[in-house]
Amino acid sequence: MDKIKVTGGTPLFGTVPIGGSKNASLPIIMASLLTDGVLEVSNIPVLADIKTLYEILKVLGVRITHIDDHTTSFNAAHISELTAPYELVKTMRASVLVLGPLLSRFGKCQVALPGGCAIGPRPVNFHLAALEQMGADIAIEEGYIKASVKGRLKGANITFPKISVGATENTLMAATLADGQTVINNAAMEPEITDLALCLKAMGADITGIGTSCLTVNGKDKLGGAKYSVLPDRIETATYMIAAAITGGKLTLTDTRPGDVTAVSEALKKMGVEITETDDTITVDGRDRNLVGIDIVTEPYPGFPTDVQAQIMALMLTAKGGSTITETIFENRFMHVPEMQRMNADIRFINDTSVAIAGESKLKGAPVMASDLRASAGLVLAALAAEGDTLIERVYHLDRGYEALEAKLSACGANIVRLHEDKEETKTQDSAQNGTTAL
Ligand code: UD1
Repeated sequence: MDKIKVTGGTPLFGTVPIGGSKNASLPIIMASLLTDGVLEVSNIPVLADIKTLYEILKVLGVRITHIDDHTTSFNAAHISELTAPYELVKTMRASVLVLGPLLSRFGKCQVALPGGCAIGPRPVNFHLAALEQMGADIAIEEGYIKASVKGRLKGANITFPKISVGATENTLMAATLADGQTVINNAAMEPEITDLALCLKAMGADITGIGTSCLTVNGKDKLGGAKYSVLPDRIETATYMIAAAITGGKLTLTDTRPGDVTAVSEALKKMGVEITETDDTITVDGRDRNLVGIDIVTEPYPGFPTDVQAQIMALMLTAKGGSTITETIFENRFMHVPEMQRMNADIRFINDTSVAIAGESKLKGAPVMASDLRASAGLVLAALAAEGDTLIERVYHLDRGYEALEAKLSACGANIVRLHEDKEETKTQDSAQNGTTAL
C-alpha cells in the first residue's frame, strides 16, 4: 500500500486550482439512472470514489463515455441489472444513493447494506423510511436492501427526524418520478444538494424550495438528458485554506465558490488568518503567525462542516491558547486524535464528543495511520507544520477525496512524496500521476 512522506516546515506559496465536488458528483452521476436520455457531467474530479461509482453503474448496464479527464456522459437507456453488489457498495457508502433513482424508475431494486464505517455506524434508516412513506415495500434480506413498489412511488409529506445529506438526496431523486407531490421537510441544505437539485431541474424535474430546508417536488412521468457542470469542492477548498494558514504561507485558491465555505472562513478569520475573496477565488495569507485558539461545533450546513474538523484541529495545534472542538454529526470521528498525539499534539478528550486542543504544540514528524478520508487530510496538514518527516500510511483514504494532492501541494513548495509499495520514492509529479491513474 502506498504511503505519503511529508517533510514539514516549508511555508506554501502559490495558486491551487480547486476541482469539482466529490460529494456533489456522486449523486449527480447517480441521477443519470432516472432517465433514458444522456446526462453529460463536467467538472467531475478524478477520484477513487468516482471510479467505484462507475463500476457500480457499469454493473447496472449504464453506458459511460469519457469525453475528457473531467467530463463524462452517462446513458442509462438500457439498464440490465437492478442489484448493486456488496463487493462495490462496501467500499463506498454513498452507493446507497442508487436506491431512490432505480426504485422510482423501475419499481424495484436491491442494494447491499453499506454497513458501518470507521467514523460511526452511519445507518440508512431515514432513507428507507422516506421511501416506505412513498409506498415502497422494503425488506432487509441476506445483507441486501430489497425494495419494490406496485406501480409508481407516490408523493408524500416527509419530515426527517434529523438532517441527513444522503437521505435528502435519495428522497429527492426518488420524488422526481413519483406520482404526485412530495414535500421534504428538515431537508439538508448543503450546497451539494442544491447542485443535485439544479441538475435534476435541468433534466426536467419540478423542484421548488432549492437551497432551503423544505423541498417540494412535483413528480414527472419522465426526465430527460442534460449537460451539467459540478460545483467546486468546498472541502478541498477548506483544506487548502488551512494549508496556507498552518504553514505560514499564502495561497490563492481558484475556480472555487467563497460563499460555500463561509463558516470555515469565519473560523479562520477569528483565529487571525487574513482572507480575501473574489467571485471565484480565495486568498489566504497565513504569514502573520499569531493565531489564537477558538471553539468550534460541527453542524449541518451552513454550520461548520464535520468534513473540515480534522483539518482545523491541526491548525488549532499551532495557535496560541486553547481551542475546543465539539463533533455533533458523527460518532467516533476523532480517530485522528491519537495519530496527532503521536506527532506530539496536546489534545485531551473532554467527553465522547468534545476535545480540548492546547495549542502551541511543537509538532514533530512521526509514522501515523490515516483512518478515514478527512482524518488523512488533517494528518497531512499537521505533517506540513511538523518538524521532520511524517510517514502517513493508508493513503488510499486520501485518494478517495483529493485529486492530485501531492502535485497541488508540491507546486506550492511542500516537501511531499508518495512511496509506492516497493518503498521506492517517486518524484512528486510522477507520484501524483500514479496516484490518479491507479484509481
Ligand atoms: C454526507 C457526506 C459526508 C459528510 C456528511 C455530513 C457524501 C457522499 N458524504 O454523508 O462527507 O460528512 O454528509 O455532512 O455526501 N443518519 C442516520 N440515519 C440515516 C442517515 C443518516 O441516523 O438514514 C445519521 C448519520 O449516522 C449521521 C447523521 O445522520 O450521524 C448525518 O449523516 P448524513 O448527513 O446522512 O451523512 P452522509 O450522507 O452519509
